[in-house]
Amino acid sequence: MLKTIVLIGMMGSGKTSVGKELAKKLNLDFIDIDQEIEKKYEMTISEIFQTKGEHYFRKIEENMSCKLINGKPCVISLGGGGFINIKVRNKIKIDGISIWINTGLEKIYKRLNKSKNKRPLLNYKKLKQSIKEIYNKRKPIYKKANYTIQTKSDNKKFIVEKIIKKL
Ligand code: S3P
Repeated sequence: MLKTIVLIGMMGSGKTSVGKELAKKLNLDFIDIDQEIEKKYEMTISEIFQTKGEHYFRKIEENMSCKLINGKPCVISLGGGGFINIKVRNKIKIDGISIWINTGLEKIYKRLNKSKNKRPLLNYKKLKQSIKEIYNKRKPIYKKANYTIQTKSDNKKFIVEKIIKKL
Protein backbone atom coordinates (compact mmCIF):
# COMPACT_ATOMS: atom_id res chain seq x y z
CA MET A 1 0.00 0.00 0.00
CA LEU A 2 1.18 3.51 -0.80
CA LYS A 3 2.52 5.40 2.22
CA THR A 4 1.80 9.04 3.01
CA ILE A 5 4.12 11.31 1.08
CA VAL A 6 5.53 14.12 3.20
CA LEU A 7 7.06 17.14 1.50
CA ILE A 8 9.70 18.83 3.60
CA GLY A 9 12.02 21.80 3.18
CA MET A 10 12.44 25.50 3.70
CA MET A 11 9.68 28.09 3.89
CA GLY A 12 9.04 29.26 0.36
CA SER A 13 10.39 26.09 -1.23
CA GLY A 14 7.00 25.35 -2.83
CA LYS A 15 5.86 22.42 -0.66
CA THR A 16 2.23 23.50 -0.68
CA SER A 17 1.81 24.27 -4.36
CA VAL A 18 3.81 21.20 -5.42
CA GLY A 19 1.97 19.08 -2.86
CA LYS A 20 -1.46 20.06 -4.23
CA GLU A 21 -0.36 19.20 -7.75
CA LEU A 22 1.19 15.89 -6.65
CA ALA A 23 -1.95 14.91 -4.74
CA LYS A 24 -4.09 15.66 -7.78
CA LYS A 25 -1.86 13.55 -9.97
CA LEU A 26 -1.85 10.61 -7.53
CA ASN A 27 -5.53 11.00 -6.72
CA LEU A 28 -4.84 11.46 -3.02
CA ASP A 29 -5.99 14.03 -0.46
CA PHE A 30 -3.70 16.95 0.24
CA ILE A 31 -3.04 18.25 3.77
CA ASP A 32 -1.07 21.35 4.76
CA ILE A 33 -0.04 21.06 8.43
CA ASP A 34 0.09 24.83 9.03
CA GLN A 35 -3.41 25.26 7.60
CA GLU A 36 -4.72 22.46 9.80
CA ILE A 37 -3.20 24.15 12.86
CA GLU A 38 -4.70 27.52 11.89
CA LYS A 39 -8.13 25.90 11.44
CA LYS A 40 -8.01 24.06 14.75
CA TYR A 41 -6.72 26.95 16.87
CA GLU A 42 -8.55 29.69 14.91
CA MET A 43 -5.35 31.74 14.80
CA THR A 44 -2.72 32.37 12.16
CA ILE A 45 0.72 30.82 12.66
CA SER A 46 2.10 34.32 13.33
CA GLU A 47 -0.55 34.93 16.01
CA ILE A 48 0.33 31.62 17.67
CA PHE A 49 4.05 32.57 17.70
CA GLN A 50 3.21 36.03 19.08
CA THR A 51 0.78 35.06 21.79
CA LYS A 52 2.02 31.61 22.83
CA GLY A 53 5.64 31.49 21.65
CA GLU A 54 7.64 29.16 19.42
CA HIS A 55 7.92 26.35 21.97
CA TYR A 56 4.13 26.05 22.16
CA PHE A 57 3.85 26.14 18.37
CA ARG A 58 6.42 23.34 18.01
CA LYS A 59 4.44 21.15 20.39
CA ILE A 60 1.14 21.57 18.54
CA GLU A 61 2.99 21.17 15.24
CA GLU A 62 4.41 17.87 16.53
CA ASN A 63 0.99 16.61 17.65
CA MET A 64 -0.80 17.64 14.47
CA SER A 65 1.94 16.24 12.21
CA CYS A 66 2.15 12.87 14.00
CA LYS A 67 -1.64 12.51 14.02
CA LEU A 68 -2.05 13.24 10.33
CA ILE A 69 0.92 11.12 9.22
CA ASN A 70 -0.83 8.29 11.02
CA GLY A 71 -4.00 8.70 8.94
CA LYS A 72 -4.89 7.27 5.55
CA PRO A 73 -2.26 7.73 2.82
CA CYS A 74 -2.22 11.25 1.45
CA VAL A 75 0.19 14.02 0.48
CA ILE A 76 1.31 16.26 3.34
CA SER A 77 3.09 19.59 3.27
CA LEU A 78 5.03 19.87 6.52
CA GLY A 79 5.97 23.25 8.00
CA GLY A 80 9.64 24.10 7.38
CA GLY A 81 10.64 23.28 10.96
CA GLY A 82 8.55 20.11 11.28
CA PHE A 83 11.26 17.69 10.10
CA ILE A 84 13.71 19.13 12.62
CA ASN A 85 11.62 17.55 15.37
CA ILE A 86 12.95 14.03 16.04
CA LYS A 87 9.50 12.61 16.92
CA VAL A 88 8.01 13.86 13.66
CA ARG A 89 11.03 12.60 11.74
CA ASN A 90 10.80 9.15 13.30
CA LYS A 91 7.06 8.99 12.63
CA ILE A 92 7.69 9.80 8.96
CA LYS A 93 10.47 7.20 8.83
CA ILE A 94 8.03 4.50 9.88
CA ASP A 95 4.75 5.57 8.28
CA GLY A 96 5.69 7.87 5.42
CA ILE A 97 8.00 8.76 2.59
CA SER A 98 9.85 12.05 2.93
CA ILE A 99 10.76 14.22 -0.02
CA TRP A 100 12.98 17.26 0.44
CA ILE A 101 12.08 20.03 -1.99
CA ASN A 102 15.51 21.64 -2.12
CA THR A 103 14.76 24.87 -3.94
CA GLY A 104 17.56 27.31 -4.77
CA LEU A 105 17.99 30.01 -2.13
CA GLU A 106 17.67 32.85 -4.63
CA LYS A 107 14.26 31.53 -5.68
CA ILE A 108 13.23 31.11 -2.03
CA TYR A 109 14.34 34.67 -1.31
CA LYS A 110 12.29 36.08 -4.20
CA ARG A 111 9.19 34.18 -3.12
CA LEU A 112 9.44 35.05 0.57
CA ASN A 113 10.24 38.67 -0.17
CA LYS A 114 6.99 39.15 -2.04
CA SER A 115 4.80 36.77 -0.03
CA LYS A 116 2.04 38.30 2.09
CA ASN A 117 2.39 35.37 4.48
CA LYS A 118 5.08 36.80 6.76
CA ARG A 119 6.95 33.99 8.54
CA PRO A 120 7.63 34.81 12.21
CA LEU A 121 11.11 33.25 12.18
CA LEU A 122 12.49 35.48 9.44
CA ASN A 123 14.22 38.80 9.84
CA TYR A 124 12.82 40.73 6.87
CA LYS A 125 15.38 43.50 7.27
CA LYS A 126 18.13 40.98 6.53
CA LEU A 127 16.05 38.48 4.64
CA LYS A 128 18.76 36.85 2.49
CA GLN A 129 21.04 36.32 5.46
CA SER A 130 18.16 35.07 7.58
CA ILE A 131 17.17 32.46 4.96
CA LYS A 132 20.78 31.34 4.53
CA GLU A 133 21.33 30.90 8.27
CA ILE A 134 18.22 28.79 8.73
CA TYR A 135 19.01 26.75 5.60
CA ASN A 136 22.61 26.02 6.65
CA LYS A 137 21.50 24.96 10.09
CA ARG A 138 18.78 22.66 8.81
CA LYS A 139 20.46 21.25 5.73
CA PRO A 140 22.09 18.24 7.48
CA ILE A 141 18.65 17.25 8.78
CA TYR A 142 16.71 17.90 5.57
CA LYS A 143 19.30 15.64 3.90
CA LYS A 144 17.96 12.71 5.88
CA ALA A 145 14.82 12.68 3.69
CA ASN A 146 14.20 9.56 1.61
CA TYR A 147 14.47 11.56 -1.61
CA THR A 148 15.71 15.00 -2.61
CA ILE A 149 14.39 17.09 -5.46
CA GLN A 150 16.77 19.83 -6.52
CA THR A 151 15.01 22.69 -8.24
CA LYS A 152 15.14 26.35 -9.19
CA SER A 153 11.92 26.17 -11.11
CA ASP A 154 8.42 27.55 -10.61
CA ASN A 155 7.03 24.84 -12.85
CA LYS A 156 4.96 22.68 -10.47
CA LYS A 157 4.13 20.07 -13.11
CA PHE A 158 7.80 19.58 -13.92
CA ILE A 159 8.67 19.16 -10.22
CA VAL A 160 5.81 16.70 -9.76
CA GLU A 161 7.13 14.64 -12.69
CA LYS A 162 10.54 14.56 -11.03
CA ILE A 163 8.96 13.33 -7.78
CA ILE A 164 6.91 10.64 -9.48
CA LYS A 165 10.01 9.32 -11.23
CA LYS A 166 11.68 8.88 -7.83
CA LEU A 167 8.75 7.13 -6.16
C1 S3P B 1 8.40 27.50 9.81
C2 S3P B 1 7.80 27.37 8.58
C3 S3P B 1 6.41 27.77 8.33
C4 S3P B 1 5.60 27.74 9.63
C5 S3P B 1 6.29 28.54 10.69
C6 S3P B 1 7.69 28.01 11.00
C7 S3P B 1 9.83 27.08 9.95
O1 S3P B 1 5.82 26.90 7.38
O2 S3P B 1 5.40 26.44 10.06
O3 S3P B 1 6.35 29.87 10.27
O4 S3P B 1 10.29 26.90 11.09
O5 S3P B 1 10.51 26.90 8.91
P1 S3P B 1 6.19 26.92 5.79
O6 S3P B 1 7.42 26.09 5.62
O7 S3P B 1 5.00 26.29 5.16
O8 S3P B 1 6.38 28.33 5.41
